[in-house]
Amino acid sequence: MNAPVSSIESLGLTATADADGVLRAADGHALADDFPLLARPVRKRRLAYLDNGATTQKPRAMIQALDQFYAQSNANIHRGVHWLSQHATDLYEQAREQVRGLLNAADSQEIIFTRGTTEAINLVAQTWGLALRAGDEILVTGMEHHSNIVPWQLLCARTGAVLRHARITDTGELDLADFKAQLGARTRLVGLAHVSNALGTVNPVAELTRLAHEAGALVLIDGAQAVAHAGVDVQALDCDFYAFSGHKIYGPTGIGALYVRAGILKNLPPWQGGGDMIRTVSFEGSTWAEGPQRFEAGTPNIAGSVALGAAIAYVQQIGLDAIAAHEAALLAQATEAMQAIPGVRLVGTAADKAGILSFLVDSIHPHDLGTILDTEGVAIRAGHHCAMPLMSHFGIPGTARASFALYNNLRDVEALVAGVRKAQKLFGV
Ligand code: ALA
Repeated sequence: MNAPVSSIESLGLTATADADGVLRAADGHALADDFPLLARPVRKRRLAYLDNGATTQKPRAMIQALDQFYAQSNANIHRGVHWLSQHATDLYEQAREQVRGLLNAADSQEIIFTRGTTEAINLVAQTWGLALRAGDEILVTGMEHHSNIVPWQLLCARTGAVLRHARITDTGELDLADFKAQLGARTRLVGLAHVSNALGTVNPVAELTRLAHEAGALVLIDGAQAVAHAGVDVQALDCDFYAFSGHKIYGPTGIGALYVRAGILKNLPPWQGGGDMIRTVSFEGSTWAEGPQRFEAGTPNIAGSVALGAAIAYVQQIGLDAIAAHEAALLAQATEAMQAIPGVRLVGTAADKAGILSFLVDSIHPHDLGTILDTEGVAIRAGHHCAMPLMSHFGIPGTARASFALYNNLRDVEALVAGVRKAQKLFGV
């Protein structure tokens, strides 16, 4: 296989993919070498980790930041008068500023730390959403992850609001005509995946946001599958809410963030009650902290936030342009190679896709395929990908999914292709 060679300058640094599709830093080292886990053999094979949509592996810089926080900086935040507490608070707020930079939000006070995308969307549903009235509508797309469906269903059950969804096409793209037809005077919020976790489809979120705003609705974007793969600019997108998970951008699990436009955030009622989210408490009543702190009750994931900041710094040093170009090249190679195998059906063939390849092979169940690939050291995800309505649309129970990250290369693609061929041989198809 011949990989297109990409060389993109970003933030003054250069990351270059070589002829083997290995992304290298300016000093020549393979970026995969920054990820200790990738050196471990799995099932006595070289690991081809292609389950990055589920979670990414971790760079040493992030792991060290986590270790360093507990070894050198650990204290509770926003509370102590002592030096360590102030130090930990500074690191936590610095991480908030790094998330602001990642999303290009106007102000770090628009960034709420959450456990991840799921918690972020639930936070919106259970604060902003409680003002909904019976008959109000929430519009999502047919390709949403369950985390951008179920919180709205729970909210609708409480408020009498109605959840609608816009159809998708057989290529796995949003049916724009149907989206426009579903937007109406009662639409209060539009929930959109920036990138479909199951198909890789990149939605035209800026255009959809413009249409939603024209209809008077707010817009929430689920960026879980986007932030590690392309630059995000919430000001350019003009969205009202943007959610993502740290573990999908080389950070720790259990930490993520929600961007909320300042004008909306200042009017949101509190969510969970407890320490740190209040200004005053008495038995007659309590008053609330300003800004993101109002939504961060209790001791938050301080170390996780700091380590997420380190992961963001790592990604920014490489440059999201370079990462996106590298993953696009790998996706193109993988798509071509898989399409050349008789019996392989790609699910999701949108014109604009991020590094996700969903597929079926003859009549082999995706779980069987995933198991055979696993014996070859190839890690993929198989199943409905928490997108059961999308699978129903295609009339299938699930797919096999390979998803790419900055450390993947052409050997991983070759291992995937060889594993698929082996499965066909074993199943006699
Ligand atoms: N949402 C993650 C995925 O798509 C877990 O795999």
